Amino acid sequence: MTAAKLAPPPRPAQIVARPVRLENAFDDPQAVLDLIAARAPYTPIYSAEGYEKAGGTEPWFRDFWYKSGHELVADARPFFTNPKFIEASKQAFDAQVVRPTSIYLNISAPMQAGRPHFDLCRYRGMDETRPFWLQVALHHSLLFMHWTILQATAITWFYRGEGGGYQFWPDGPDKPSQTITTPLWNTALVTDNDFMFHRAEAVGPREAWTAPGELKGDVTIHHQADGNWRIDDRSGPRLTYDPKDLRFFVIWKGLVFKDQAHADAYDNHTDDLTLEQVWDIFAKDFAERGERLDIPADPLTDRSFRERILTAYPPPGQRYFDEARRADRYAAEA
Ligand SMILES: [Fe+2]
Repeated sequence: MTAAKLAPPPRPAQIVARPVRLENAFDDPQAVLDLIAARAPYTPIYSAEGYEKAGGTEPWFRDFWYKSGHELVADARPFFTNPKFIEASKQAFDAQVVRPTSIYLNISAPMQAGRPHFDLCRYRGMDETRPFWLQVALHHSLLFMHWTILQATAITWFYRGEGGGYQFWPDGPDKPSQTITTPLWNTALVTDNDFMFHRAEAVGPREAWTAPGELKGDVTIHHQADGNWRIDDRSGPRLTYDPKDLRFFVIWKGLVFKDQAHADAYDNHTDDLTLEQVWDIFAKDFAERGERLDIPADPLTDRSFRERILTAYPPPGQRYFDEARRADRYAAEA
């Protein structure tokens, strides 16, 4: 196929939320920190196999407390149901109905900055029984906004060290970004991470970052009796950190609905996207690019079809910021 035409960057009109900053996000921050210490050790955010393929891991660890509405850690219930997150989500999205779905811990040891990106969200009618590649393509194409299941993200930081802020583009990627800078202690930002570009700043000074490939996917992070944290691999202890050098942040997500009618449409599946519509919309978009997209007999499992779709719709952050960087319009890379 010919090179895909660059899609325009997401416009501010597609960013539906106004970020809301919350101080004292959790009523009992010490209870959050106690839970974090009690549940250690932790594993990296992706599977060990995924990291081995990528040649190593970043020192970034995760622990789910609630996932897709399911309780995994009973002690996290007051954090999951935090009314401040619900109220701030209503405010940020101008929404009447908010349903918490997930809450999870992240720990980042000193590491380089992330790239501007969107988080993944779901689309009505395309639940987890659909292949992951399709969920990714739906989101990256930006062609299915009508069926988006809107989601608020509340990020609460516990970090007073160097760097470690959060950069975001609340007015679109071609307008100036904003950055929440540390120290951040029990401070949250409630926002739309699915359609607003954002990225994590580097944690700690450059000389403290782990080298690419230095850590393999088998690492774990442990909380020691002396209060320090330690990264181990199969052969034993590797790195030790004072807790002040680790960026602890808790991510909460909730579904947001403009009103009860929108929540009902979601619950009752009265406005779901069908696979036929998906192929039709992709084919029309290809036609607008002057290309023909033939739909194979089994598009969900056809490898070359999948590759063609994923190539046509790369991650919007990659698509937009690489272009902007080439045009010298974005020079903020850390
Ligand atoms: Fe993100």
